Amino acid sequence: MEQLSLYGGYALSGETTVQGAKNSALPILAATVLSGEECILENCPHLSDVETACEILRYLGAQCTWEGETLFVCCKDLRENTIPQALMQKMRSSILFLGALCARTGRAELSMPGGCQLGDRPIDLHIDALRALGAVVETSDAIVYCQGGDMGGGSYRFPFPSVGATENAMLAAMGCKGPVSLENPAKEPEISDLGVFLQQLGATVGGIGTEVMTILPPQACKPVRHRIIPDRIAAATYLCAVASAGGKIVLQNVDASQLTAVIAPLRRAGCKIRIRGDTLTAARTGALAAPGMVATAPYPGFPTDAQTMLLAAMLRADGITGVQERIFSDRFRQLPQLQKLGAEITIVADTAYVTGVRRLYGAQMRATDLRGGAALAVAALAAEGESIITALDHLDRGYEHIERDLCNLGAKAERKISTR
Ligand code: UD1
Repeated sequence: MEQLSLYGGYALSGETTVQGAKNSALPILAATVLSGEECILENCPHLSDVETACEILRYLGAQCTWEGETLFVCCKDLRENTIPQALMQKMRSSILFLGALCARTGRAELSMPGGCQLGDRPIDLHIDALRALGAVVETSDAIVYCQGGDMGGGSYRFPFPSVGATENAMLAAMGCKGPVSLENPAKEPEISDLGVFLQQLGATVGGIGTEVMTILPPQACKPVRHRIIPDRIAAATYLCAVASAGGKIVLQNVDASQLTAVIAPLRRAGCKIRIRGDTLTAARTGALAAPGMVATAPYPGFPTDAQTMLLAAMLRADGITGVQERIFSDRFRQLPQLQKLGAEITIVADTAYVTGVRRLYGAQMRATDLRGGAALAVAALAAEGESIITALDHLDRGYEHIERDLCNLGAKAERKISTR
């Protein structure tokens, strides 16, 4: 078993290049199923979730090969339209193969997906959207059966702009005979990246990032070379790291326009953040001030994936920080771990309140999920002495080499084999 050892209490100083976005790579990997031509994905992050997507693709009959940060995928000879339960269980976004397989082969049979435990994660909106486009979907004994050979297209209005359901509908749209209109879709940058990828395949995609997205599939897909967008949540993690530890860092490969909602509370907390092209410089040299209340919301609101890190960064801030979680029902699971460092946290309904303390002390903590695990690392940077974080498999799902990035940024971080 591996663990991350972090010696906190030191200001950061360094530079790192932010990886490609996990939440962009995964739907785009599902989208490669749509095409019999080669898809070349640049800036693709080496993550265990991306490896799982490759395992699924290989099981389906695809070829996936890496050359550095570039992933070559060819789904010319697909031989399956079911995915074994063990692979489905490994991550939530395995469900995106439902829309993609239906579009390509007219049929899919998948078990319910796994993923981080963040509360209820149903797939009712995915199913409703696919049905609206003309698919016949049935569920029984936690298996989803989807017949999509005769999807005519049409329109669907999302009651809530679900990221995964929007992606599944976009993928299914590629197998429809007529145009598709998606109202109130998710507008996350990763949705836009998928839209651009579908355009490169040859689809006509309109209204990306707006209230109504339209998709008209191509007659035949074209080969694609696509660069995955930078990971805004990894960037947010390192911005929170410098807020927590103090110091000055430089992040390369960042699209700051996608981080507006994260940068605002960090600036209120006293961080100086400068944007120049795709380079972001962040410094915290003075005291940390609590930024007040933050509420998570669909993009362009404050991302639920970054709230765990913001709370962790504010454990020593002067004043009270409140984070209201409005997307997932159980996203404060890491907070008891942070209390081991000496943090003062209370939860009232859907809001967590952090009252800044003067000092934090290193402790052994267990990652509860991907972003909860990242929050432990952010907090440990401000805790005196050594902290140990276990259950690193959660972190490895979303961060290429978190210890490498943290070391580049000047942290004393080391991945070790646990002796216990
Ligand atoms: C994606 C991201 C995840 C991020 C989340 C919200 C990926 C791989 N994961 O997850 O990192 O935290 O967006 O930005 O991109 N819901 C339903 N029915 C459905 C689908 C969703 O009720 O059919 C609810 C969920 O329970 C949750 C909310 O909608 O409360 C948001 O979920 P959704 O936007 O679908 O998130 P994911 O796609 O699972």
